[in-house]
Amino acid sequence: MELQTRGGLPGILVLLLPLLLPGFLSSLSYASPSKFWELNVAKPRHSSLLKSALQRETSHGKQSYLWDPLADQGWRPCVQSTPSALPVKSEGYLQVFLDGGLNQQRMGICDAVAVAKILNATLVIPHFEVNPVWQDSSSFMDIFDVDHFIDVLKDDISIVKELPDEFSWSTREYYATAIRATRIKTAPIHASANWYLDNVLPVLQSYGIAAISPFSHRLTFDSLPMDIQRLRCKVNFQALVFVPHIRALGDALVSRLRYPSKGTEVVNTGYLRETSHVTDENRARKFVVIHLRFDKDMAAHSACDFGGGKAEKLALAKYRQVIWQGRVLNSQFTDIELRSQGRCPLTPEEIGLLVAALGFDNSTRLYLASHKVYGGEARISTLRKLFPLMEDKKSLASSEERTQIKGKASLLAAVDYYVGLHSDIFISASPGNMHNAMLGHRTYKNMKTIRPNMALMGQLFLNKSISWPDFQQAVLEGHENRQGEIRLRKPKQSIYTYPAPDCMCEA
Ligand SMILES: *[C@@H]1O[C@H](CO)[C@@H](O)[C@H](O)[C@H]1NC(C)=O
Ligand SMILES: *[C@@H]1O[C@H](CO)[C@@H](O)[C@H](O)[C@H]1NC(C)=O
Ligand SMILES: *[C@@H]1O[C@H](CO)[C@@H](O)[C@H](O)[C@H]1NC(C)=O
Repeated sequence: MELQTRGGLPGILVLLLPLLLPGFLSSLSYASPSKFWELNVAKPRHSSLLKSALQRETSHGKQSYLWDPLADQGWRPCVQSTPSALPVKSEGYLQVFLDGGLNQQRMGICDAVAVAKILNATLVIPHFEVNPVWQDSSSFMDIFDVDHFIDVLKDDISIVKELPDEFSWSTREYYATAIRATRIKTAPIHASANWYLDNVLPVLQSYGIAAISPFSHRLTFDSLPMDIQRLRCKVNFQALVFVPHIRALGDALVSRLRYPSKGTEVVNTGYLRETSHVTDENRARKFVVIHLRFDKDMAAHSACDFGGGKAEKLALAKYRQVIWQGRVLNSQFTDIELRSQGRCPLTPEEIGLLVAALGFDNSTRLYLASHKVYGGEARISTLRKLFPLMEDKKSLASSEERTQIKGKASLLAAVDYYVGLHSDIFISASPGNMHNAMLGHRTYKNMKTIRPNMALMGQLFLNKSISWPDFQQAVLEGHENRQGEIRLRKPKQSIYTYPAPDCMCEA
């Protein structure tokens, strides 16, 4: 799950509970009489702002600075001076089983490489658990280019695709059925390097193998040797690239966003419609990617009121009761408190108003990166009204072109990640794993990423009498330094979100 955990146990509970109750989730999402209130809640809530936003002026000149690339900030990816050497002798095989969605697994892979390095172990290509909500059984090799991965890291650690025959017993199923001596189950959140040396190295030395699960968020971001931090960066920003068919589809989508006139050609000749590279930079259009994670899980978990009245309240409360036995992090707060603290995800309408207030007009090309949207197309239509040139995977690629990714949540997310990484501007409606991963990766490439000021937006949306000019001015002022300026990582923060100064050096 890509839910943002705001620290503490309840967040972790939310991550784990669906694993314990897989049946409930699927029965709820299909069988509940939710259609009625989902439609009901999709109505615009900020109609007066929306009306003004729809009448906003289109002034292309005024808009151009919005698209300016970030100025050079003096930070570059660090160059590894001395490539770290392979250990003389491997201490054994290290296995990890990774849960969560694509971006959580991505961080898990980087951490697994680092732990293998700390232990002088040989890493087995990580196993991806099937997420009970998204039901995608794609493996590492289905998503990432495994040969590239091994090749980029070949001077740092040894990696094998599969265990040798003598260890072939060490499978996911083997660990699911009983307590096993080679399974490490107790790695604390953000464990230190010494924890691994004290607790995992002896297992490796006794058995020649150790399997760590759970492994998400199990390696600290602080007090690690610089070469280990740099190695994590190398994995995240160099070793992990998507399989060729994802990159090809991503390139096709980006090209169709940049050169829309060519987009009207035949769609079903061959697997990918020709994406002839017109390298005429002047003709290339700019585009914004909006990432929306606004599904029922998120809505229920946030404990916020989304305007559906009594019916919505009851339905979301019931959903919370069944899935989390009512234990939701924020349920002691009122909706007004939650909003003014910035704890409510922005709805499609709200992110649309934010982007419009920043100055983007109805000629802006927008790519919507999202999975399921709570409230469905009815809710997205408000955003579409503000930005009629809005595209997504479906509108840009034919059904044939999407055959290999259809219904596969991780591959769909991978395509969105790829397009997000190649956009001029990226903005996310809530600070979750995708937002963090994209913020980190785009910082590494010095690309514009707008970080919504959630508390400010919450407060502005609470003011039902605010005028458009006041709203716009407050939004502009509140986002002045939130467009991709380098922020140095603070203790406990993730190097995958804030890559400077661990992965980036001052030039
Ligand atoms: C790993 O290998 C290096 C050099 O080969 C050695 O200095 C270090 O002590 C080893 N660490 C462990 C945990 O075995
Ligand atoms: C954009 O808005 C202007 C009015 O401000 C309108 O004339 C124009 O048709 C709109 N363009 C699109 C693509 O909807
Ligand atoms: C709401 O907005 C109005 C007009 O824009 C402003 O005068 C008023 O002070 C705001 N109220 C609050 C509580 O911020």
